Amino acid sequence: MVPRITLRGIQKYYSGSRVPAVKGLDLDIDDGEFLCILGPSGCGKTTTLRMIAGLEHPTAGEIQVGDQVVDSVEQGIYVPPEKRNMGFVFQSYALWPHLTVQDNVEFGLELRNVDSATRKAAANQVLEKLGIAKYSKRYPSDLSGGQQQRVALARMLAVQPSVILMDEPLSNLDAKLRLEMRAELKKIHLETRATVLFVTHDQWEAMTLASVIAVMSEGTLQQLGTPDDIYNHPRNRFVAEFVGNPPINFIEFAADDHSALSASLQQFMDDVRSGHGAESVGVRPESIRLLPAAGTAPDTAYSGQAVVASVMPTGGSWIIELVWGEQRVFATTNSPPNVQFKDIVTLWVAQGDLHLFDENGDRLSNLDALPGLPDSKYSKEQNVGHATSTT
Ligand SMILES: Nc1ncnc2c1ncn2[C@@H]1O[C@H](COP(=O)(O)OP(=O)(O)OP(=O)(O)O)[C@@H](O)[C@H]1O
Ligand SMILES: [Mg+2]
Repeated sequence: MVPRITLRGIQKYYSGSRVPAVKGLDLDIDDGEFLCILGPSGCGKTTTLRMIAGLEHPTAGEIQVGDQVVDSVEQGIYVPPEKRNMGFVFQSYALWPHLTVQDNVEFGLELRNVDSATRKAAANQVLEKLGIAKYSKRYPSDLSGGQQQRVALARMLAVQPSVILMDEPLSNLDAKLRLEMRAELKKIHLETRATVLFVTHDQWEAMTLASVIAVMSEGTLQQLGTPDDIYNHPRNRFVAEFVGNPPINFIEFAADDHSALSASLQQFMDDVRSGHGAESVGVRPESIRLLPAAGTAPDTAYSGQAVVASVMPTGGSWIIELVWGEQRVFATTNSPPNVQFKDIVTLWVAQGDLHLFDENGDRLSNLDALPGLPDSKYSKEQNVGHATSTT
């Protein structure tokens, strides 16, 4: 049985620091989830993972794995890392320098008294999977950073832990290998049904890997949800902006001149501002559709006229910079855009693609009153840090 992991009121102050690295973290991670902890540098991702592994002590709070409390400041309980049945790969992947790749990968199995033939077979299988079997007789010092990183992954996977903790484990790989390793990790997760906690600051990596994403900022959990939920129903402006490339566009209600917006959008903005306290609206670049200047947007859409400021091809898609009244917005398209610098275009956005935020930057969750607007299944009240991708 793969255990569920529970964090309650986890706080972490490093000695000498007045600012907590992690503050008041509540998190429930269901069996077999692939949870990505996502956030900018210094937001507390590694600290959180190290506390779950038992390598760092919380200053307050409790961590439970399955039925067992493994750390409780209040109850004075502490279970050491080797008794938590977790496998980890951390940012610095310490391999044994005096052991070959093969012996490094077999090491954990040897500790568990697994016989030599079984060890060899298990190590070979995982080395093969990660594409490093050909280096099995080499020593770590004869490998590149990326190869060493894969050996560290292989060493961890060989013992088939029921909980896998990984801290930026693909950071030293080139783009192609990163993608291959991601696909491999996804497969391994499906095969083993282990509970995986994977730390990354790369939103794309989190979106492609996770069944559930925990977005953190400055030591606090900002949102917990499926990749779809995080992207389409961001709980606040921080999450909305952190996920998505190019980033979401914001139109500030108070600050900007809206005279270039269509009458229907102006009306809408007045309504949601006075009726719902909305202070800004977010629009993802792919939600902005373009028509020739004389084109007619659908009746129910919010539209306006804009000027093309630049067209940037990215290979398979295009980023188009538009000046819309006082706003500068970015749109994306996957088909060749039939527009040029200085062209006047009609742009429109479907009502359901508008994200509304209040003065605190929180997503407005009472949008039911506005027909056609999306609302999150993780409402403010529900989203207390329960990671499950099935509800
Ligand atoms: N050993 C330590 N002693 C004191 N402060 C620390 C220590 N480790 C981390 N911190 C501080 O705690 C905060 C969180 O650090 P943490 O390493 O958890 O961030 P992170 O999200 O993993 O960042 P990164 O993406 O850069 O790895 C940071 O402000 C950091 O400076
Ligand atoms: Mg880190």
